[in-house]
Amino acid sequence: MTSIIITGGAGFIGSHVVRLFVNKYPEYRIINVDKLTYAGNLANLKDIEDKPNYRFVKADICDFDTIYALMQEEHVTGVIHLAAESHVDRSIKDPFTFARTNVLGTLSMLQAAKLYWESLPEKYEGKRFYHISTDEVYGALELTHPEGVTPPFTTKASSAHHEAYGEEFFLETTKYNPHSPYSASKASSDHFVRAFHDTYGMPTIVTNCSNNYGPYQFPEKLIPLFINNIRHRKPLPVYGKGENVRDWLYVEDHARAIDLIFHKGTIAETYNIGGFNEWKNIDIIKVVINTVDRLLGRQEGEDMDLITYVTDRAGHDLRYAIDSRKLQAELGWEPSLQFEEGIEKTVRWYLDNQAWMDNITSGEYEKYYEDMYAERPSCD
Ligand code: NAD
Ligand code: TYD
Repeated sequence: MTSIIITGGAGFIGSHVVRLFVNKYPEYRIINVDKLTYAGNLANLKDIEDKPNYRFVKADICDFDTIYALMQEEHVTGVIHLAAESHVDRSIKDPFTFARTNVLGTLSMLQAAKLYWESLPEKYEGKRFYHISTDEVYGALELTHPEGVTPPFTTKASSAHHEAYGEEFFLETTKYNPHSPYSASKASSDHFVRAFHDTYGMPTIVTNCSNNYGPYQFPEKLIPLFINNIRHRKPLPVYGKGENVRDWLYVEDHARAIDLIFHKGTIAETYNIGGFNEWKNIDIIKVVINTVDRLLGRQEGEDMDLITYVTDRAGHDLRYAIDSRKLQAELGWEPSLQFEEGIEKTVRWYLDNQAWMDNITSGEYEKYYEDMYAERPSCD
């Protein structure tokens, strides 16, 4: 029987992966292991929590004994590892937590899987350890676009652009060059995963994905934070000049890629996941403002004056852009949504699910933001 531990399943991307696997594979056993940090929220999984093939276990991935015992108890055949500290700004304030969870936690998961699988007669046969990583490990790209071409690059425009300027994208072979404590900790965990393949023969896979957006994202990240602030007519803190570029992928497209790669990906390979969808922050912010205004029945663009330029993030990477042609060519994956559709769906979801947002944007969280922005004086 296929029995899979999904770590971080109560978080943003993890909840979409758990939902997809629980619904699509009723014959699998899906065990969601999550510590429920500030970013973990079981409300993200309300619709599937009673399914017979689903189990939630509240545990810290750093707790080796618990993870090892769970692997034995559930006869685990696969791990899809998403649990992590994931927010760059928090990593700047508190790098130790990132090293603990992202590096030592990953090592704990690897070691537990190794000892359990090596204890079985068939050992690694039919097993898989799939580690979810980020494009941020590759560092930052320059804004060296051909003359006259500036972001936003929609999926189509960017693919054409890419044909001519492929070297300006992150490839699976791009040298790691992380700049933030977050990306440094993810890079380190990626190295450990590959080392477990090379040293012990563990069947591992690593994927590096671009920025995700969609329902259930914790509102410390750009898109949900700004949707919520626009709704409440609060300032929108744009770091620096808003010219940094990110490559955005709808979260369900990432979850579909994870499903495909878990089942069909080649052991020991790395796959980049991204939708050829680059946007300058300030341009994406304008799209979000217009969409929220329209859906709330306000005049489009009415809330542009909420844009507030603040001191830049330390070490702020200029541009991320993923080349996902390997995944497209080898496994036939492609993003299902154009960005305009994805953002409309996303804004609509947050506005329709205000109770979800209100539940997590109070108390300690509110205080965290007050403190954080107190340290970010306006550029004006
Ligand atoms: P998230 O912060 O929304 O969720 C992380 C989850 O991990 C939470 O449920 C949290 O409770 C859990 N967790 C944290 N520490 C834990 C611990 N010690 N033990 C057990 N559980 C713990 O993160 P996300 O945005 O869903 O990202 C998931 C993964 O995908 C991460 O590994 C991240 O690096 C990677 N990733 C994210 C993005 C993105 O845009 N969000 C892009 C590429 C890759
Ligand atoms: P974020 O959602 O934190 O993702 P990441 O840092 O992993 O790319 O931020 C996306 C971009 O938006 C990034 O360039 C930083 C910027 N940003 C702001 O300008 N203001 C904000 O309040 C936040 C959270 C992010």
